[in-house]
Amino acid sequence: MQDDIERILLSEAEILAGIDRVAAEVTAAYRGREFTVVSVLKGSCVFASDLIRRIPIPLELAFVGASSYGDGTVAGELQTNFFPADQEISGRNLLLVDDILDTGRTLQRLSRELEHRGARSVRTCVFLDKPARRSVEFEADFRAFEVENLFVVGYGLDFAGRYRNLPFVGALREEIYATAMRTLSEGGSPGA
Ligand code: XMP
Repeated sequence: MQDDIERILLSEAEILAGIDRVAAEVTAAYRGREFTVVSVLKGSCVFASDLIRRIPIPLELAFVGASSYGDGTVAGELQTNFFPADQEISGRNLLLVDDILDTGRTLQRLSRELEHRGARSVRTCVFLDKPARRSVEFEADFRAFEVENLFVVGYGLDFAGRYRNLPFVGALREEIYATAMRTLSEGGSPGA
């Protein structure tokens, strides 16, 4: 798996230091207020689990399912697969946590939907921010790192379902996704 990585952008030590910083910001913002961390699956599960363990104040945890990339590196139609139960949303302060803020469509849409379903407040926290790719007006309230405009994997982020378990963030070698895209266009599975 590591041979498929062109270059490491964030080492494990850098990642954990960034999460310490953002966790302190979140803690200061929510001290004295009940809140729920809503992790956007699947990509944010690694970040969310490290983040919540660095927030030393009471919180609850919920999950929302959304996907926009299918098997490739090009954003497709956004699908929301499931939401927390109504009682986990209604009247609650929610902190929506995602792996990466790219075009901004996912978090904009999920924030609006959670507000529509009766959340008291919705704020957002992202592991990575790729501002160069933004196509809608949306900024996160908290972010751990800004990254350049590259397709990145690791630490929860995948390509065709793989690489989420890498402990660092890296850029994939171009031939890896070129081969996978060729396989897909020939009707096969990118994992083949
Ligand atoms: P939007 O465009 O809605 O995208 O802000 C957010 C979702 O897109 C996925 N995404 C990526 N996944 N490497 C990935 O593995 C990337 O470089 C990348 N850019 C966007 C991701 O699932 C995120 O939740």
